[in-house]
Amino acid sequence: MSAEGMAFKLVSVLFLCSLPSILCEKNNDVTIIVKGSTVEAEIDDSFVCATLDWWPPEKCNYDQCPWGNASVLNLDLNHSYLSKAIQAFSPLRIRVGGSLEDQVVYGVGSLESPCDPLTYNSGGLFGFSKGCLSMERWDQLNRLFQNTGAIVTFGLNALYGRHQGRKGAWQGAWNSSNARDFMEYTISKGYPVDSWEFGNELSGSGVSARVGAQQYGEDLIVLKAIIDDLYNKSRPKPLIVAPGGFFDNQQWFVQLLEVSGAGVLDAMSHHVYNLGAGNDPRIITRIMDPNYLSRFADTFRNVKLTIQRHGPWSSAWVGESGGAYNSGSRLVSNTFLNSFWYLDQLGMASKYNTKVYCRQALIGGNYGLLDLETFIPNPDYYSALLWHRLMGKDVLSIDVSGSSFLRAYAHCSKHKVFRLCHS
Ligand SMILES: *[C@@H]1O[C@H](CO)[C@@H](O)[C@H](O)[C@H]1NC(C)=O
Ligand SMILES: *[C@@H]1O[C@H](CO)[C@@H](O)[C@H](O)[C@H]1NC(C)=O
Ligand SMILES: *[C@@H]1O[C@H](CO)[C@@H](O)[C@H](O)[C@H]1NC(C)=O
Ligand SMILES: *[C@@H]1O[C@H](CO)[C@@H](O)[C@H](O)[C@H]1NC(C)=O
Repeated sequence: MSAEGMAFKLVSVLFLCSLPSILCEKNNDVTIIVKGSTVEAEIDDSFVCATLDWWPPEKCNYDQCPWGNASVLNLDLNHSYLSKAIQAFSPLRIRVGGSLEDQVVYGVGSLESPCDPLTYNSGGLFGFSKGCLSMERWDQLNRLFQNTGAIVTFGLNALYGRHQGRKGAWQGAWNSSNARDFMEYTISKGYPVDSWEFGNELSGSGVSARVGAQQYGEDLIVLKAIIDDLYNKSRPKPLIVAPGGFFDNQQWFVQLLEVSGAGVLDAMSHHVYNLGAGNDPRIITRIMDPNYLSRFADTFRNVKLTIQRHGPWSSAWVGESGGAYNSGSRLVSNTFLNSFWYLDQLGMASKYNTKVYCRQALIGGNYGLLDLETFIPNPDYYSALLWHRLMGKDVLSIDVSGSSFLRAYAHCSKHKVFRLCHS
């Protein structure tokens, strides 16, 4: 360790050591060097984040329907374990969003009624109809958020007003009127939304639908103007986050930054599902394979470089990450094993200057931090809490040699009593 660094800083080092290293490399010496004087990156105070999704009970994957009543629209918001789980972070960032967000309208203004929930419809995107968030439900959600001190990132419907073109390409400009009414209502109630995210998985080649980067950038300018207009006095101005999609086409992201222009996009969000489909039998070996896990560093690096070169006013967020897609992997995503993937991701994302990392999901699917039926925390919940309490803003440079199965990440300590980094 660098002595001069350690004289000024107390660091938290997170060690992840997977089983093979204990069995096979017992006699290896491992050297760990923390360069306490070099701050490599900086994360947000509310780096750890969890999502609430829209999936209704009818959402099924592989003959299994793991969403139950975990939707934004039907979750039991009065469950005491739910509020305690959120409160423990004081604060936890919660991102409301997911595949169906671009089919949700807000029951306010001219759309006040009828305001029906999302229902199964084989012809709709992802097999669901359009649905509606009533302002009564929004009030209840905000009561939970305020009682638990949650920091809210809300994903807006970015397909509203567009029409479906060929092969999933959506055309036309975004119609902002319903979102504007919704924001106006939110402001009138004094609900402190920290950030508005725009769209879900519509970037690049899209998942079920996609929108061109030129149009998307122009729509972000419209969203920015609405926010500047509505949050016009001393109200703290919320951030704009987008596009919440896979970083599968760097040029698309570059164009989004260039078209929207300086100061518009505060955070460029992307999604991580690097373990494969939820029913893939290789998920367990992938989680235990350091080379496999390390491959995703390339994406974090490319996101970082894209922002540095084309949008230095912006920052990187992981807006949604569940590891295994299609609702996670049953018997894996909610077990201890999954933390080898999850904690490694938190460390790796931090190293590449990612400000926020949203885990899919707080509850629901097979990857819920809380159990769907009992609301009892799964192992990853405690991993998230441990990270949140231990790892401070400043990410330090660390070198590990001796075993690829040992991962180590170092940050300045979070706890104020010990936090001497800036003295
Ligand atoms: C969801 O909640 C409704 C109403 O409380 C209840 O009737 C239903 O059984 C619940 N469904 C599941 C899957 O828990
Ligand atoms: C949840 O709690 C609120 C406030 O205490 C109460 O008004 C509401 O009726 C409760 N909802 C349910 C479904 O129990
Ligand atoms: C936008 O949507 C609203 C309903 O929310 C509708 O009244 C209005 O005509 C739409 N505007 C355009 C330009 O289509
Ligand atoms: C702020 O915005 C509201 C809603 O659009 C508007 O009624 C009000 O006049 C604006 N205030 C100022 C000082 O611009």
